[in-house]
Amino acid sequence: MAHPAQDHPYRDFEHAGWQRAATAYAETFGTISSAFVPALLQGVDLRAGARLLDVACGPGLVSGAAAAHGADVTGVDFSANMVAEAARRNPALAFRQGDAEALPFGDAEFDAVVIGFGLHHFPFPGRAIAEAWRVLRPGGRLAFTTWAPPEAHVMHQIVVGAVRAAGDAGAALPVAPGGAVNQITACAGLLAAAGFAAAATRLSIIKAHVPIASARHLVDMLVAGTVRLSTTLRSQPADKAGAVMAAIERGMAPYRDGDAYRFPVAAILGSTAKAPG
Ligand SMILES: C[S@@+](CC[C@H](N)C(=O)[O-])C[C@H]1O[C@@H](n2cnc3c(N)ncnc32)[C@H](O)[C@@H]1O
Repeated sequence: MAHPAQDHPYRDFEHAGWQRAATAYAETFGTISSAFVPALLQGVDLRAGARLLDVACGPGLVSGAAAAHGADVTGVDFSANMVAEAARRNPALAFRQGDAEALPFGDAEFDAVVIGFGLHHFPFPGRAIAEAWRVLRPGGRLAFTTWAPPEAHVMHQIVVGAVRAAGDAGAALPVAPGGAVNQITACAGLLAAAGFAAAATRLSIIKAHVPIASARHLVDMLVAGTVRLSTTLRSQPADKAGAVMAAIERGMAPYRDGDAYRFPVAAILGSTAKAPG
């Protein structure tokens, strides 16, 4: 079993934020992140009957899709509210509260581990990758998604750009002490350090388009269903909120599609395997 996760203010900030967002996530930001669920499950070459661990499972969107493929699914998340939401939405599946950096499972218990948009929320993402390695059986597969590098992450560019241009960049957000994971080279380093062979590892940028009704719709989804962008948007002074919204609307203009928007999103997809025993 793993050592307990190390206390860190980054974890406390994330934990409070996800407890708050738990009931809203699936219907808000989860409608964006779920565009990448099929690629995540392909990354572990999911087969019926596979024992799959969904780390940072949130309300169980990935878990539910994996179960629909016939997998034997367990979900784990450090937010009790998320675990309750996952169980409510997927009553036939098993969910546990636990930290990605100290998984409450024994060695080699799973055929596959997935981490959908979780790594960048962990203070020490390398520890979570090492834990995935530990709980995988020899030959078992890991896949993860995390947001693309800043230059490819249009949503982040538009929202952060609008706040910088028209709002108050004010509230400082905690920085992950274990480093950022929004570059392929950083992900490759963490996988190698955990013991995943480079020859088994694939890292690529994958893209999708999601429908967004309006700038207000995007902002409402970010406020209700995220932690970092939510904190930034909620901290805007009332007298600047209108200008920030207008700047977001201008940033979204190139993606207009009839009455709504066809919005580009991009993620890093990582997949790898533990060496056969
Ligand atoms: C963006 S949501 C992703 C949810 C789900 N994987 C999906 O793709 O829809 C991030 C999730 O990571 C969880 N999380 C953040 N830090 C964690 C940690 N240290 N250990 C376990 N779960 C964590 C949050 O509670 C939240 O449910």
